[in-house]
Amino acid sequence: MRCRFGIAVAALAAVFCIDPAWAGRVYGPEAAMAEANRAIGLTPDIGNGRELYKICLVCHGPEGWGSSNGYYPQVAGQLASVTIKQLADIRARNRDNPTMFPFSMPSTLGGAQEMADVSAYIASLPMSPVNDVGSGHDLELGKRVYIEECAECHGNRGQGDLQDHIPLVMGQHFSYLMRQFTWIRHGKRRNADAKMVKQIQRFTAREVAAVMDYISRLRPPPEKTAPPGWQNPDFPGFARHDLPPQMLLHGVPPSPRN
Ligand code: HEC
Ligand code: HEC
Repeated sequence: MRCRFGIAVAALAAVFCIDPAWAGRVYGPEAAMAEANRAIGLTPDIGNGRELYKICLVCHGPEGWGSSNGYYPQVAGQLASVTIKQLADIRARNRDNPTMFPFSMPSTLGGAQEMADVSAYIASLPMSPVNDVGSGHDLELGKRVYIEECAECHGNRGQGDLQDHIPLVMGQHFSYLMRQFTWIRHGKRRNADAKMVKQIQRFTAREVAAVMDYISRLRPPPEKTAPPGWQNPDFPGFARHDLPPQMLLHGVPPSPRN
């Protein structure tokens, strides 16, 4: 069926039709969770993860900081179990990500071991000292909502939970957080946590913007933050000046501590 779609999806069709590693695979949430659990239980090889990260750096940047317009999320510093689960969900089509989907395929990325390797490498990258933040107008409200409604799962500082693969959200780009939250709320991001989906239905637009602004300003601890001007020495040859300006994160003011 899938292979009958026209030229517009030829690249994706090629992945489905030709990729032998993908043939006969089971899709969906259970398949994704089984693969994620397998990967989480493996011992990662960070050196290999660094090699694999070459697949990712064109979009997420050589530092893993994404883009300040939030199109590409910051992945640096994310808990390994979270990255693994997202990769498993994306390739099992349990989370739609058409831009990245072909790069998550077994023929490109590999299996559970490679998912563990690249996720461990990403977790070891220091986070950006600057990121996209909201208006700053409603931080009191944002803090109240966060502490009352979100901290129980995402942690007081937005540090997430490795054991339960709950995302680290501190220092993430505001516009990315807004998009994900909206998609989770409306069911477009199918892999979301059922309890969270239920809990966030009643929020007003003002509360959503306020809490995302608050989260985007939660700073990672110093040992997880890159010094200003840091460039990843693993990719010295990468032509950073060719990146679009929003990937260089220069124009974004540092978030004040709160
Ligand atoms: C062609 C561009 C592209 C490539 C290459 C790419 N990604 Fe992505 N990735 C994206 C986009 C776009 C999103 C955000 C999608 C959305 O809005 O839901 C994303 C999202 C993610 C997320 C989810 C982050 C979160 O906080 O939920 C993870 C994890 C991730 N990518 C890891 C990787 C890894 C690991 C690689 C390399 C193996 C990779 N990506 C390669 C474009 C790309
Ligand atoms: C019951 C636990 C729980 C609560 C409460 C909760 N979350 Fe989540 N949240 C999760 C889990 C688990 C995920 C990851 C789901 C997945 O596997 O993709 C998530 C994902 C997210 C994401 C996407 C992160 C990313 O990197 O893609 C955002 C943003 C988010 N939550 C914000 C919030 C906010 C804001 C609140 C409070 C209003 C909140 N969450 C309350 C468990 C929770």
